[in-house]
Amino acid sequence: MGSPQESIDIRSLVSFIDLNPATEDFMTAVHDGLSKPQKQLPCKFFYDERGSQIFEQICNLDEYYPTRTEIGLLEDRLGEIVELVGRGAHLVELGSGASVKIRTLLSALPDLAQYTAIDISRDFLLQSAALLAQDYPDLDVAAVCADYTTNFQIPAPTNRRSSSTVVFFPGSTIGNFTPEDAKHFLERMAGILDQGSGLLIGVDLKKDPAILRAAYNDSKGVTADFNMNLLERINKELDADFDLDAFFHDAVYLEHHGRVEMRLISRKPQSVTIGRKTFDFEVGEHIHTENSHKFSLDEFRAICETAGFTTVESWADSESLFSVHYLTTL
Ligand code: AVJ
Repeated sequence: MGSPQESIDIRSLVSFIDLNPATEDFMTAVHDGLSKPQKQLPCKFFYDERGSQIFEQICNLDEYYPTRTEIGLLEDRLGEIVELVGRGAHLVELGSGASVKIRTLLSALPDLAQYTAIDISRDFLLQSAALLAQDYPDLDVAAVCADYTTNFQIPAPTNRRSSSTVVFFPGSTIGNFTPEDAKHFLERMAGILDQGSGLLIGVDLKKDPAILRAAYNDSKGVTADFNMNLLERINKELDADFDLDAFFHDAVYLEHHGRVEMRLISRKPQSVTIGRKTFDFEVGEHIHTENSHKFSLDEFRAICETAGFTTVESWADSESLFSVHYLTTL
């Protein structure tokens, strides 16, 4: 058991910048999303502390192939990645979560100027960054609490000048954007980064829909808990009265969009009050809570090329389940 004293000590190992991702907008975002003809909620709100924990469980599921496949790719290509990143880089991770994947890189990358973890989930971010700093005592670790889907800056390393910036964006989180928004996001990244900066990015690939359906409708119901936690969070934080037994999780693969859609489906006609507003649901009506787009290697490279990056390398596993790309800004 860590005493409070101990946990303060650990946290002081990390330099922390809070860009205060606009939590006061949670109510507005929920009201706006549920007022649309197709009700929807932004997936970034999945990641409160409990949601971040459930997501870690998803990553360990047999059916959820992306995490282990991506880590396998990073391990297999580690030598090449180390060459491409070079010495003295500032490594910046977007959506660092529990900071598991980064350990594969940190153990091999020589002489980093700094590792900066950026995440929207403040407490989870601080805990994970502190644990990492403890395990890598020679590494300068910074944590930035920010919503990278809106405007944000990458702070310069605190103690040293870096030779270059390399952004690590794993997990196919880019797939949460529509292809058009992914392009805008990459354009914005290219604008923030100096010329010649790197982007090491994980991208999920198109595949047999049965594999995708299993990955997002796992047999233990962990993904269902993850999805339903969004309603629990709204109840807790926004004075809402979602009846959790009156909704269920489903995930469908829409081939024409090349994406998995996460949904919460109403079991009956009902109304739900959230703050000052009430929303009506028909039986079978769903809230669309997440898009998870899947790409072909060529589709993804084409988006990058139009957004101001060049593809230096693309790697996929032997079953072509998942890909990792190293891009640089033009
Ligand atoms: C980390 C956002 C990419 O879309 O696969 C996992 C999130 N949602 N299971 C994904 C998620 C349901 C994950 N991303």
